[in-house]
Amino acid sequence: MTSYRSEPTPEAWRFSVAPMMDWTDRHCRAFHRLLTRRARLYTEMVTADAVVFGPRERLIGFDAFERPLALQLGGSDPGRLAQAAGIGADFGYDEINLNCGCPSDRVQSGRFGACLMREPALVAECVAAMASAVKIPVTVKCRIGVDEQAPREALFALVEAVERAGAAAVVVHARKAWLEGLSPKDNRTIPPLDYPLVHALKAAHPSLPIAINGGLDDLAAARAQLWFVDGVMLGRAAYQNPELLLGVDPQIFDAPAPLSDPFSAIEAYAPYVERELARGTRLHEMTRHLLGLFAGRPGARLYRRKLAMLATRPGAGLAVLREAVGAVAREALAETA
Ligand SMILES: Cc1cc2nc3c(=O)[nH]c(=O)nc-3n(C[C@H](O)[C@H](O)[C@H](O)COP(=O)(O)O)c2cc1C
Repeated sequence: MTSYRSEPTPEAWRFSVAPMMDWTDRHCRAFHRLLTRRARLYTEMVTADAVVFGPRERLIGFDAFERPLALQLGGSDPGRLAQAAGIGADFGYDEINLNCGCPSDRVQSGRFGACLMREPALVAECVAAMASAVKIPVTVKCRIGVDEQAPREALFALVEAVERAGAAAVVVHARKAWLEGLSPKDNRTIPPLDYPLVHALKAAHPSLPIAINGGLDDLAAARAQLWFVDGVMLGRAAYQNPELLLGVDPQIFDAPAPLSDPFSAIEAYAPYVERELARGTRLHEMTRHLLGLFAGRPGARLYRRKLAMLATRPGAGLAVLREAVGAVAREALAETA
């Protein structure tokens, strides 16, 4: 590829929160960004067609403070993906990522997502088209193979093709997708993880930033991976226990944590919540991403119950959030008394 690129350093992919459909929407990302300044965040997957023809602002609009932020696209038509990438770049995204890992039936019938593991030449064409349409990095998120594929051949073939086509980095979910007979959910737990294969991939591509994803439950596990690869991507662990993200800046980037604890995270989120409520966003659309925040602390169950019950009520406002947090704070006080 000859196109000019404002290339970030490999450190750009050192730690990221995975793209997760229905989870990593803008309200979730706004919250995560308060917990870590340095992690790279990803949108949910949006199809290239939706970006080109759909209600753009609603689908891919974001607040500048969410950056560094990548837009994840689904699709397999190089021209359409290039168009969508261009629109993403104009919106101000820092990266365009192509999904080659999603196993859902809907995605398979559209011939994109994980089934693209079988078509490295087509994926390379897509990457080349996107990379020549934008100046920001174009990256790929993939599995290690699908169904009967031999992972070593499938993964290496895909990554060789996309590196040649101009991909700036690759994120590998280190397990196969089984396209026959497993739900998307089971496809995130049942096919076995193969981290050493991704480490071998990195050794074979010394100048291509490679991040590993899948089954990393905490920052210790994440740090251990950084001996072998350039970056780690956490999905469920970060979403279900967002407090983990408070450790990212100090433990992964050797930088100060932006906030001291989950209580201050809620306080820091409050102005965002107020702004969004005033724009007509319902409280629950934001607080549903906070349910895991106090996991393991006394009062956490009551906190979750209050939020789940009260935040969906019409007109629910910040007072509900404060009341729910109060449940944890009171229990914490009772414990120390
Ligand atoms: C609810 C949910 C939605 C997901 N949606 C996407 C998606 O839109 N695009 C994608 O590439 N991966 C998606 N994934 C997969 C994650 O990005 C990640 O690869 C997977 O969860 C493994 O990482 P983890 O073990 O750290 O969760 C999704 C995962 C979950 C749990």
